[in-house]
Amino acid sequence: MLKPMNGSEQDALDVAPGQSIGTEVNAPHLTLARRLRRRRAAPWMRDLVREHALLASDLIWPVFVREDNDPADPAVSTMPGVRRLTISELVTAAAEAHALGIPALALFPVIEASRKTPDGIEATRPDNLVCRAVRALREAVPNLGLICDVALDPFTSHGQDGILRDGDIANDETVAMLCRQAVNQAQAGCQVVAPSDMMDGRVGAIRRALDGAGLTHVSILAYAAKYASAYYGPFRAAVGSAAQLGAADKRTYQMDPGNGDEALLEVALDLEEGADFVMVKPGMPYLDIVHRVKTRFGVPTFVYQVSGEYAMLQAASKAGALAYKACLLEAMLSFKRAGADAILTYAAPELARWLQDPT
Ligand code: PBG
Repeated sequence: MLKPMNGSEQDALDVAPGQSIGTEVNAPHLTLARRLRRRRAAPWMRDLVREHALLASDLIWPVFVREDNDPADPAVSTMPGVRRLTISELVTAAAEAHALGIPALALFPVIEASRKTPDGIEATRPDNLVCRAVRALREAVPNLGLICDVALDPFTSHGQDGILRDGDIANDETVAMLCRQAVNQAQAGCQVVAPSDMMDGRVGAIRRALDGAGLTHVSILAYAAKYASAYYGPFRAAVGSAAQLGAADKRTYQMDPGNGDEALLEVALDLEEGADFVMVKPGMPYLDIVHRVKTRFGVPTFVYQVSGEYAMLQAASKAGALAYKACLLEAMLSFKRAGADAILTYAAPELARWLQDPT
């Protein structure tokens, strides 16, 4: 408990700048029981009292995987340092990430336009790009966690996360397809499926589908509070769904940025339906939600530093406005302080490298 200030401390604070105190003109002296600057005085002291720290084991690395013969430039123009990797490049990068102590990857496929259809059926095919990547990674880096996104947007010709009927995304029909997609990815060997589609009832349906297929050991990471955010732009360009989506948006299923209480309801429902972990997305503009979710439910709460957040930091540092590394680390600490247990970030490998060698 903080002691209330005594009279002389109060008086001391009442001294106006420049005002003389008795005979001591040059060295005014405050009688303070508490001087918080004492514990900030030296690096070793700050290290001792720091409440939150980033570890490599907090990080999940989202990666883009492409076909060997994809003619598109592998670089993502607005995300310096991020590349769309072929399966064999990904295997090498994944082994490095594992060696750096990163626990898991989140896989996002870049699907050829010729394989995209209105119903996104390619998502359910056992030989699709994601499943081939999962099998190669499980074989080469067996102890690395693999998280597969469950949503149809990389596979649909219209770029929406679900099936379009009369201008709307048909919830229940989409959920049936997502169940097939989740089982397909789990059978390929991923340990976690992560529905990012925001259909109602999908977590429960996916849990039943996994269990029915004998996949009770596969976990569900629910993108529980996913907002209809403008910060996903670079991601949509990277997976090639931006062109398909055109001027359309996802506001009939992703959450309205004006809502906070509704995020708690989304999380409560996903937990009831069987989510093992929940996620808040995007990250920095939604730190209040991360904090409320963690405080209210006390369950593993992940946060996604999305493509636009990464692109902003990169662009500002390129422009000479911000110091990239310091700002990135500060963003990571903000997630930890807000209560996040794990952070999805495109910068995971460089962060893990810095943590090993901070110079
Ligand atoms: C799609 C999906 C999106 C992201 C992850 N999964 C984009 C969207 O909802 O349009 C965004 C990730 C990012 O911006 O980094 N289901």
